[in-house]
Amino acid sequence: MPERITLTIDGQTIEVEPGTLVIEAARRLGVKIPSFCYYEGLSLAGACRMCLVEVEKAPKLQTACTLAAAPGMVVRTDTPQVRAARRAMVEFLLTNHPLDCPVCDKGGECELQDMAFTYGAAQSRYIEPKHHVPERRWSPVVYYDRARCILCYRCVRVCKEGMGVGALGVINRGGRSEIAPNCEDHLECDECGACIDICPVGALTSGIYRYRTRPWEMRHVGTICAHCADGCKTTLGIYDNRIMRGNNRDRSGLNGEFLCIKGRYAADFVHHRQRLLTPLIRQADQLRPAGWVEALRLVAERFRGVRDRGARLGVIGSNRTTNEENYYLQKLARQGLNTNNIDHHRTGDVAALMAAVQGRNDALATLADLEQAPAIAVVGTDLAQQHPLISWQIRVNQRRRQGRLYVVSCGPVREDSYAAQSLRVPAGEELQGLFSLGEQLGRERELVVVFGDAIQGEDVQRLVSWGDSLGIPVKYICLVDYANSRGA
Ligand code: SF4
Ligand code: SF4
Ligand code: SF4
Ligand code: FES
Repeated sequence: MPERITLTIDGQTIEVEPGTLVIEAARRLGVKIPSFCYYEGLSLAGACRMCLVEVEKAPKLQTACTLAAAPGMVVRTDTPQVRAARRAMVEFLLTNHPLDCPVCDKGGECELQDMAFTYGAAQSRYIEPKHHVPERRWSPVVYYDRARCILCYRCVRVCKEGMGVGALGVINRGGRSEIAPNCEDHLECDECGACIDICPVGALTSGIYRYRTRPWEMRHVGTICAHCADGCKTTLGIYDNRIMRGNNRDRSGLNGEFLCIKGRYAADFVHHRQRLLTPLIRQADQLRPAGWVEALRLVAERFRGVRDRGARLGVIGSNRTTNEENYYLQKLARQGLNTNNIDHHRTGDVAALMAAVQGRNDALATLADLEQAPAIAVVGTDLAQQHPLISWQIRVNQRRRQGRLYVVSCGPVREDSYAAQSLRVPAGEELQGLFSLGEQLGRERELVVVFGDAIQGEDVQRLVSWGDSLGIPVKYICLVDYANSRGA
């Protein structure tokens, strides 16, 4: 185990692992060093210089976000020189920034506003006119206001490193630098909104949410996204009984702060005018609204008719409903309708995997395993489209642990761009494709195999037997498509 490093920050001593950044060591001590461009989990930018600190024996102030802790280092984060530097940086960032927080969409949750309050840069010595550039609409979701941008590059990095899309870049130099979309004047991307959420100021705003309400006017309600099987936590902002936005800024839930376009924006169906709010009964060719009592009586009557004729009934449940609802549905089927013919839309063959691993719980991988695994094989699935959180987790692994990724698919997938190896196979031959990588995979320390409905039934048993033959620990994730496919 590498030797730990002892350093002193504001008179407090701390021991950290080699490579720990001073800004992180300070956070562990409860010492807050202000930062804009530093963002835990993303690459370092060293762009904003808000995190300047004094380091004993260093000739000038150092950026705590790029400085690795060293043995015996003595750091001071709150001296007159540091405070003056921070105040000057805020003043500098406000050179071209409009001073109109009350009308900015970010007002009330803006990191620059908070910094200006904290470091007291209330007045500017600049008297020159501000350089103004009109706001741009890059897509129905993403709006960019250059004047408010502080060039921290968080958006560029989260899009490239987090989402694996890389739709944002930087053009021009110096004071004319600005963030640019991938298609000249517009964006072609996932529209996930991660760049908007991570922007510390009001430079990137959301076409779905902006100017509809204020952060302090909303109730913030935690819930689980039901649009795929990954189960992300999302926090909905509610105003006037309407859902205004979704995010997960408190990083609770298994997804941390990640949300894809669906988890962030696809709650609008709740208020959609075509949403069915009452049962409809068909009479002749017309559907007429009815009350629940009337509708359920009619259904019961029809069911009874089928049963009395001696015909057989089957029940198809939803895999978007809760365990409790599914429990009642099967009870209705078995006890009320006297049938055991119950099913739902099956995707990944979880039942076959459970049978194949024969109760070995350590053969089932979790999302946390995906972040740690030294090697991952993704077989027959387009994660970025079907399981965006898993795709994100694999990229986290790539950044932090440099895990090796192997892809077997019948078409191009986003993972190709960072996979150690990508194999294209005809549909239906994914398992053979994976087997052909056996020699290489057997040299890995451990392996997680992620597969979906491309491998079903007996092939799942063949997959597990093959995994056992590799001679390394192998874990599996069987992907299902809907929010509660497992419960159903
Ligand atoms: S919306 Fe998502 S995919 Fe599009 S630019 Fe922003 S981070 Fe990238
Ligand atoms: S748009 Fe926002 S996140 Fe992107 S560089 Fe500007 S201030 Fe930073
Ligand atoms: S990855 Fe799935 S669960 Fe997570 S936000 Fe997207 S649709 Fe919802
Ligand atoms: S936070 Fe250190 S330079 Fe930006």
